[in-house]
Amino acid sequence: MKEQLAKIRAEALSAFEGAQSALDLDAIRVKYLGKKGELTAVLKQMGKLSAAERPVMGQLANDVRAALESALEDRSKRLETAALEQRLRAEALDVTIPGKRVEIGRQHPMNIALDELKTIFIGMGFQVLEGPEVELAVYNFDRLNAEEGHPSRDWSDTFYFDQDSRVMLRSQTSPMQVRAMESMELPIRIIAPGRVYRKDEVDATHSPMFHQVEGMVIDKGVTMADLKGTLNTVVERLYGQGTKTRFRPHHFPFTEPSCEMDVQCHKCGGTGCPTCKGEGWIELLGAGMIHPKVLEMSGIDSEVYTGWAFGIGLERMALRRFKIADMRLIFENDIRFLEQF
Ligand code: PHE
Repeated sequence: MKEQLAKIRAEALSAFEGAQSALDLDAIRVKYLGKKGELTAVLKQMGKLSAAERPVMGQLANDVRAALESALEDRSKRLETAALEQRLRAEALDVTIPGKRVEIGRQHPMNIALDELKTIFIGMGFQVLEGPEVELAVYNFDRLNAEEGHPSRDWSDTFYFDQDSRVMLRSQTSPMQVRAMESMELPIRIIAPGRVYRKDEVDATHSPMFHQVEGMVIDKGVTMADLKGTLNTVVERLYGQGTKTRFRPHHFPFTEPSCEMDVQCHKCGGTGCPTCKGEGWIELLGAGMIHPKVLEMSGIDSEVYTGWAFGIGLERMALRRFKIADMRLIFENDIRFLEQF
């Protein structure tokens, strides 16, 4: 039995030492120290021993158990430490690796174009207003003289929020005319830039969301001549001295008379080219004298006051300003495109 114990001790100690993981170690523990383990098996034979031999063997067996248990604990601790070290090494942070560069953008071409426009108008005494994109149809249509049944109110063109077509995404910045008339003292000189929404398919010149800049002046004795003079000045500031414009008759429900203003093509100078589709002119904005009914609906005496308004498509302006061929580039936010401005 003595030899048996010595053998178990030697074997177990070397097995513990050889264990490479906590799992390994536990299997070895079960093999030697478990209920059905080798040491336990030896102890079960104690009964066969003589009364004189029993305490000696008992002592010896306890020594072996103690030795095995302490070796087990020791190995287990070292395995734990090794595992921890390995994990720390694997998760180590190399603070000397250069960081990832944060890509800083630029001012968006749309904002550059808008800022230029704002600077020009502020210099002429205009105030800049902002208003809601979720708008009431009353402001977007009714108070602008586009009554029920007007084609621009159609569901196929406009994003409504409710069955009764009362709340919508504004389809133009013109409701800002009404909001200004309602909230400001006369005389009024404002521009109101912002997003507008229409059910248009995306292509090179269309997007369901785009930007307009509304402009409006109301004062005593304001005429169409003021409208033309102001817009001509703005165009010359934007596109250079001597840039020609032309005014064509048009129709809007809230202006009378109404017109569209074209700018002579910057590419061909008016002879006709692909950029202006052979026209020599590029359409820039809609405008007109504010309809007396619109003034009256907002409580302004149209016998005393007159006014004009315009609405510029900002994308069209930016495309022209930076000679960009496709409007989609403006909204894709590809940094390689935006870096060029
Ligand atoms: N709101 C018009 C449009 O979206 C443009 C416009 C504004 C026309 C102001 C006249 C006066 O087409």
